[in-house]
Amino acid sequence: MPSSSPDELSPREAWLYERGLFALERFDDRTPLIYRKPIELPGDVREWVAGWGGDSLFLTGPIGVGKTHTAWKTCRCWLEAWYAPAREWKGGPDLRTYRSTALFDALRPDGPDEIRRTLVKELQECHLLFIDDLAAAKASVWTQERLFEIFDERYINRRPVIITCDVVPGQLADVTGPRVSSRLAEMCGDSIVLLEGADRRKEVAA
Ligand SMILES: Nc1ncnc2c1ncn2[C@@H]1O[C@H](COP(=O)(O)OP(=O)(O)OP(=O)(O)O)[C@@H](O)[C@H]1O
Ligand SMILES: [Mg+2]
Repeated sequence: MPSSSPDELSPREAWLYERGLFALERFDDRTPLIYRKPIELPGDVREWVAGWGGDSLFLTGPIGVGKTHTAWKTCRCWLEAWYAPAREWKGGPDLRTYRSTALFDALRPDGPDEIRRTLVKELQECHLLFIDDLAAAKASVWTQERLFEIFDERYINRRPVIITCDVVPGQLADVTGPRVSSRLAEMCGDSIVLLEGADRRKEVAA
């Protein structure tokens, strides 16, 4: 968001400012309550946001260290950056957020084909896809195939994903299948961030 006051902005900047505020408000409304609290992002995550034009981000670490909260805040920063005046306008941002368990459910073979096909296409094409806790549930062979469709399309078009997970991409083959974990390892490349520390829930409870 521009730092000058709204009445000093050019018409283009004012337009971006208004739209950005509206998008951020809507994003905040759908952010789970505990993840709305402001937090400091780790340096390597801030660097990812600053150069967000392609690579994916993989946040890993032990239980309760802050992976999901960091990912929600990173999505918010990504959204804010979308409306930066210096950036070429490419239409409104399409940012999808999913818990892995809800995603795997939505991809199951027993739902309507048409709805599932539409979902796969949307997740192939959205500008940013955030999947929380990717190793939380094991995907069936069918779901692994749908995940492959989603990830392969994003991989070949360099569309970013943000993943949180308690293992690194190389250890995900059992969950996602080896072809997805291999692609993820390349997509996240230098942006595999290990969050370290104690379970923050214990600090809150103490
Ligand atoms: N940087 C931070 N500063 C302060 N509190 C934080 C920070 N990051 C996370 N928290 C808080 O710590 C708690 C755990 O965070 P979070 O749910 O993101 O952990 P997690 O690593 O995703 O855990 P899990 O592995 O169980 O999914 C939440 O209450 C969250 O709001
Ligand atoms: Mg989490």
